[in-house]
Amino acid sequence: MKSRALQVAAHPRGEVGPEHFEVVPVELPDPDQLAAGSVLVRNTWTSVDPGMRLRLRPAAPDGYFTAFDLHAPMDGILTIGEVVASRADGFAPGDVVWHSLGWREHAVVRAGESAMNGVGTLRVLDPGDAPHQHFLGPLGPMGLTAYAGLAVVDGLSGGRVLWVSAAAGAVGSLVVQIARNLGHRVVASAGSDEKVAWLRDDLGVAAFNHRSEPLGEALARLAPEGIDLYFDNVGGEHLEAALDAMAMHGRIALCGSISDYESEPTGPRNIFLATAKHLTLSGFRGSLHLDLLEEMQERVAGWIRDGRLVAPETVYDGLEQAPRAMADMLAGRTTGKTLVRLG
Ligand SMILES: NC(=O)c1ccc[n+]([C@@H]2O[C@H](COP(=O)([O-])OP(=O)(O)OC[C@H]3O[C@@H](n4cnc5c(N)ncnc54)[C@H](OP(=O)(O)O)[C@@H]3O)[C@@H](O)[C@H]2O)c1
Repeated sequence: MKSRALQVAAHPRGEVGPEHFEVVPVELPDPDQLAAGSVLVRNTWTSVDPGMRLRLRPAAPDGYFTAFDLHAPMDGILTIGEVVASRADGFAPGDVVWHSLGWREHAVVRAGESAMNGVGTLRVLDPGDAPHQHFLGPLGPMGLTAYAGLAVVDGLSGGRVLWVSAAAGAVGSLVVQIARNLGHRVVASAGSDEKVAWLRDDLGVAAFNHRSEPLGEALARLAPEGIDLYFDNVGGEHLEAALDAMAMHGRIALCGSISDYESEPTGPRNIFLATAKHLTLSGFRGSLHLDLLEEMQERVAGWIRDGRLVAPETVYDGLEQAPRAMADMLAGRTTGKTLVRLG
């Protein structure tokens, strides 16, 4: 059987583009000759995540998922697929599965082998009526990250003023809706008037465009009493503005700092405000909160059924589109979860 995979051809400096990747042919094992304990999967959906940009460097940040090797399979990317053949107990042809061998059309996955802190370990899904790709979005790692960040920062309570940045993106749009459903007053920021209109008119929260209004002015306008909680997807100037706008005893969930991923880090320069205001800043990884996965899936699936949570997505068709999808996502040209449909 023949298949195809994407590999990293060169480390990007600055903005990533299709020229940094190569599509290579892959020879698959005959299904009858799979190694014991292995499963052959036809991948159907694969993920595009900002954190992958940090792994397109010679070395990824200490403690994070490892860098992708040049000219080698890109392991550690969450992916959905269908089992074609199996020599592992608990996996049968036709099963819908979740695993971590993405950016390729087929994968041979070893059952039971831990991947991505356990979040990417091969598992059978029970999608019911849910679109399968929801397990890369609201019912998967994005939901887990949003839910875990809110748990870390405020124990999933409600009634506070919460700012979330990159709020029309995969994680941000879930944070907005989960926080709103929990009873927080949400202030959301995004980088286009279209995204802001969607946040305000469809999701019903206060919203502003960070590209057309200074952050400090927008926060003073929409949260004059100060911010109790900040869910930081952006870092840099956004985190600096949050430190300025936080109320006493505020709490910040450090989810990511996408403004730094393709350029030099820019701050924050006012970190003493964390001391002065007795703030708590908590870095966290969704993948290190697997204990919350089932609880999150139950609650989020309920909200989807009740019409209280929507999961927008921007879909690119075909393996060769994945690099363009990544460039578009990093530049803010996508809304909701960015996905590649493989077939
Ligand atoms: N801690 C974890 O476990 C974990 C897990 C998943 C993701 N993350 C982090 O969560 C964040 C969001 O990830 P995602 O998958 O949901 O991506 P996403 O929000 O769907 O896409 C990225 C968005 O970031 C915004 N952006 C890009 N450059 C920016 C800049 N210089 N200033 C302000 N905004 C910028 C753009 O939105 P606008 O058009 O609105 O500017 C873009 O749409 C990232 O930092 C990611 O690394 C963390």
